[in-house]
Amino acid sequence: MTHGLQHYHNVLITGGCGFIGSNFIRYLFEQHDFSGKLINLDLLTYAGNPENLLDIQQKYAERYIFQRGDISDKSLVAQLFEKYDIDSVCHFAAESHVDRSIKQPDSFIQTNIVGTFHLLEASLRQKNFYRFHHISTDEVFGSLGPEGVFTEETPYRPRNPYSASKASSDHLVRAYGNTYQLPVTISNCSNNYGPFQFPEKLIPLIILNALEKKPLPVYGDGKHVRDWLFVTDHCEAIWLIMKQGRIGETYNIGGMTERENIDIVHTICDLVDDRIGQHSTPSRKLIRFVQDRPGHDRRYAMDFRKIKNELGWKPRENLDTGLKKTVDWYLMNQKWVEQVRTGEYRKWIKDQYGEIS
Ligand code: NAD
Ligand code: DAU
Repeated sequence: MTHGLQHYHNVLITGGCGFIGSNFIRYLFEQHDFSGKLINLDLLTYAGNPENLLDIQQKYAERYIFQRGDISDKSLVAQLFEKYDIDSVCHFAAESHVDRSIKQPDSFIQTNIVGTFHLLEASLRQKNFYRFHHISTDEVFGSLGPEGVFTEETPYRPRNPYSASKASSDHLVRAYGNTYQLPVTISNCSNNYGPFQFPEKLIPLIILNALEKKPLPVYGDGKHVRDWLFVTDHCEAIWLIMKQGRIGETYNIGGMTERENIDIVHTICDLVDDRIGQHSTPSRKLIRFVQDRPGHDRRYAMDFRKIKNELGWKPRENLDTGLKKTVDWYLMNQKWVEQVRTGEYRKWIKDQYGEIS
């Protein structure tokens, strides 16, 4: 069963100030096939940056509402659902960084599992509720050897606290669909890259370090493989699933772009050198092989034939075009980079909202 677009009047986006969420909100307003309101609930953790959406906030003031808050705050969530008559949810909010989950898993359990639970409960209580779409990851499937790909039927085998918390939330979402007939869909996506990504993740970290002539850390032997997808391709897939995806179904999303980490780092080095011209130290010389991440998954690869066959989605960008766009975005958005690097964006949040964690 699919639900028509006409049902979506008041969409709750969680985590809309993060990397993918902010790209999605931008995408939705720029698509012109959505005329409802977006309510963005975001706690503004270190990864949430309202600067990502300042222009959107101004341009679409009548249809875009921002609410700072925690998805695991049960009463706030209930209030929001009532106040804005929420009829659909697109759930991005999460602690998203694997290295952080290894050092300090607490907030991953709280946000990713408990937070998702409260959103599901609130959705269940709504009278006219059409869709709960949950954004998940390929990491729930574990680690691949040199051969094979993850399909929607691959059993879950999460291997770090982040992926275990995301797997738990996926199970909860499916359980609410099965037990209470909540209209749910789930998408599991591979590694995203593109504008507005926080520079703790591999691609922006390498771009910015190369520009600043800092060491470029590569974990272990650098031969771990990820399947890269440009972020707007992910946004397009999510919106298609929300509009046309079958209730109760899961869709894998991937880039069909498997690369060893060291290859990605080499490509970025060459792109950066090309963009900033000749200089004494080629960026490749800055590469340092450092201690591996504990329990580091070796390879991810997504089979996305289901979304391709059912909904006609496939990535528009390839890695060459996507990485060029990404390097250029970081070069052209020095103010954003500076604010994130220096923590200046946190000052803005403090001025607006008082003390921050
Ligand atoms: P991100 O870390 O950039 O952003 C997360 C956002 O969630 C931030 O704005 C943060 O402030 C907000 N948030 C965190 N805890 C919250 C809470 N308790 N209440 C409300 N808001 C909270 O993450 P991202 O990379 O944009 O990922 C978004 C989603 O996509 C996550 O669910 C992640 O698991 C999933 N995902 C990410 C990737 C990727 O490559 N980045 C790939 C597949 C799936
Ligand atoms: O696969 C989807 C997942 O991709 C998402 O669910 C996560 O939210 C997102 O953070 C991302 O997880 P990864 O751990 O794959 O992303 P990260 O950018 O941290 O690392 C990518 C690869 O690069 C990984 O094999 C680890 C390696 N790496 C990472 C960093 C930060 C390095 O070699 N050096 C580094 O400094």
